[in-house]
Formats: sequence, structure tokens, C-alpha cells
Amino acid sequence: MADSPASTVRLNKFLAQSGVASRRGADALIAEGRVTIDGVVGQPGSQVPAGATVTVDGSPVAVERMVYLMLNKPVGYVTTMSDPEGRPKVVDLIDVVERVVPVGRLDAMTSGLLLLTNDGDLAHRLGHPRHGVKKTYRAIVRGLPGSAALRKLTQGVYLDDGRTQPADVKMLAARSGGAELEITIKEGRNRQVRRMCAAVGYPVMELERIAYGPLTLGRLGIGTCRALKPHELEALRTAASGG
Ligand code: URA
Repeated sequence: MADSPASTVRLNKFLAQSGVASRRGADALIAEGRVTIDGVVGQPGSQVPAGATVTVDGSPVAVERMVYLMLNKPVGYVTTMSDPEGRPKVVDLIDVVERVVPVGRLDAMTSGLLLLTNDGDLAHRLGHPRHGVKKTYRAIVRGLPGSAALRKLTQGVYLDDGRTQPADVKMLAARSGGAELEITIKEGRNRQVRRMCAAVGYPVMELERIAYGPLTLGRLGIGTCRALKPHELEALRTAASGG
């Protein structure tokens, strides 16, 4: 397929980069005839020339600066945009004017590395099971898992939504009444690490995400956030394309 001229961008990409929707969500908006370019209804594959006015449902789409943030999420905060129980939200910890959303989710009781962005396209690709982006957790479990339990966690555990894919599991430390594990999974099922550990008899008492794809939490303070560095963003894009 020939490249489009540099001064134009494909309509679904334009909408995704503007934070309107993921690229797939943008495709749906276009297919429903809800998007116009300079007054003409957009088609799948339409190109947006530089300076064009794009509307969705009649409202102009503002071209936003893309923002990519890493937050060290504190325990007790929810990653949803609203919470019926009134718990604090991670987005309240973010001080940017752009409307960023979390990439995937972490349980309220899980702390650690959370990405937030207004790049709906990248967020969608990172979450896609096809790319199997690795997520690493440090888990404190109750009890001391033996080699059989560690093998089960590594090979796959039967949960009510199916068997988990192979994981990397390391015993970091044994302490009185518990153990510290490092668990790396490629899936992103709801409460997956907690359910895996509970399924083999070692419930999680504390859970922290320490890495997401090529990115690590490092020394980022709890409750603080920073912009990704250019090389981190590049590595993340590579991970999101299956690299
Ligand atoms: N696994 C969990 O159990 N919880 C999370 O927040 C993330 C992964």
C-alpha cells in the first residue's frame, strides 16, 4: 500500500491521537457516519489533511498534545474514572490538562506502576492479548509456597475463566508467615495474580506492579507521576507492536 503524504493522517489514527477513541472505536464512529472532515462525511481510509476541521457528532475535535505518564499508584486508589463507593481515583493524582486514562487497570488494593495516556491507539494496542505485553508483580503471599505450587503458577493455573498462560515466577524471599514472589504474566485478566496465588493455596497479602513491558517503576515515589522519557516511549511502542 502506498504511504499517504506526510501532511495527511488516516482518519482513524487522527481520532485515536486526539484521544477521542481507540483506533477500533474510531473505525466504528466512522462506519456509523458520525465523523466529518471539512464538512464531508468521513469514510474508512479517509485521510485528514493538515489544518482540516474534523467533527464527531457535529463537535470539532481538538488536536491534543499526546501525554504519556507513569504513576506509582498508592493502595486504596481506583483506576476507574468514577467509583460508586467514593474511593479516591488515580486520575485525581494527575496534574495535566489533557484527559488521560489508565492503560489497563490495577485493583484498588494493588500499588505500583500504572501508565496513563490520552493516546487511545497505543493504550488499545498495549492491552491487546495478541501482543502479550509482560507485567511484573511483587507479591507477598501468606504461607511458604513449595516447588509444586511454584511449578503450578509457572505452568498455568485453572481459574473460573480458564487456565492461565505460562508465567515466570521467582521466590525472592521467605519470611515468617509469608513469602515474597516476583510474578511476570502476559495476560491481563481481572485480579489475575491474586486469583492465581489463591488457587494454589497462597493468598496475596500485598501486591505491587514493578514493571510494565520494558518500563520499570524504579524510585518513583508513591503517589507521584512523571512523563515517560523518549526512549521509554519508543520501547513501549515497540512492545505494543509485538516487538
Ligand atoms: N493481578 C491482580 O490480582 N491485581 C492487579 O491489580 C493486577 C494483576
